[in-house]
Amino acid sequence: MLIFRHIKHMRSQLEPYRKRGQRISFVPTMGNLHGGHMSLIKRAKAQSDIVVCSIFVNSFQFMLTEEWDKYPRTFEADCQRLREIGCDYLFAPNDSEMYPNGLSTQSRVVCPSMTDILCGRSRPGHFEGVTTVVSKLFNIIQPDESVFGLKDFQQISIIRRMVEDMCLPIKIVGGPIYRESDGLAMSSRNVFIRSNERPKVKVLKESLFEVGQSLAEGEKDFYGLEKQASERIEQHGFEVDYISVRNSLTLEEAAIHDQDLIVLGAMYTKSARLIDNFILRLDNIMDNGGEDKK
Ligand code: PAJ
Repeated sequence: MLIFRHIKHMRSQLEPYRKRGQRISFVPTMGNLHGGHMSLIKRAKAQSDIVVCSIFVNSFQFMLTEEWDKYPRTFEADCQRLREIGCDYLFAPNDSEMYPNGLSTQSRVVCPSMTDILCGRSRPGHFEGVTTVVSKLFNIIQPDESVFGLKDFQQISIIRRMVEDMCLPIKIVGGPIYRESDGLAMSSRNVFIRSNERPKVKVLKESLFEVGQSLAEGEKDFYGLEKQASERIEQHGFEVDYISVRNSLTLEEAAIHDQDLIVLGAMYTKSARLIDNFILRLDNIMDNGGEDKK
């Protein structure tokens, strides 16, 4: 696997593949790679000729510098995993390469739809940082397709909307949530979970699955289901940020006749913020917006 730190070099390396019409798949990450990231790389490999991964801990999407500072960085181990899985290229720029003029005057990509709800409510500005960096990365790599995890469901929904709004010729592919053996969704933030809380955090997934089962059986009292799930999580000593039943195609609050439903949730442990979701009609979502735009 070749590693590039500079935009210019990364671009010129990919140019010949593009000219030959070979398919480039791109998996953007912030590193500290785990099974979830690896599942996306595998997916990318299965449907393309060349796989590019990026590692960049994007300060623009962190609201607190302190959070950015303590984000786990495991570059050598990440490279090892990427080599083992057969990733072709790693793009790993530093801050001054990505934001040479600093953050305060950086042009931004704003996607007004879907960004101030759910996670966006408790993390104002976060998704603007994501759409800005992802569109920069898209412009650098110019992939045919890009794979994002469905764990960060709001993020992939926003990216899909951005791609559509900005007419970017990139197919956005969704990869299923990869979990620990007890069901906890894998996340780089899981290292912050305190050991006494670790056995209990699966309650988030379990509560969301319970809501999902009820929805699948035709239950329509969305508010009642959200309340029940929140109470169960609180009983385990965690603070609920939100539990919300939504339309999985629009992220609007679910309406009675909606078929494409998702329940999303976020909760706080003493030292971590965890998110998860349960999607009904998953096939619809993986392919949603997934048609080849070329
Ligand atoms: P990061 O948190 O490193 O995640 C990179 C990709 O891995 C995202 O698409 C995320 O949804 C996916 N992912 C994380 N955990 C997963 C799991 N358990 N199962 C499946 N996929 C999982 O998301 C970001 O970085 C950043 O916001 C980024 C898009 C790179 C922009 O900076």
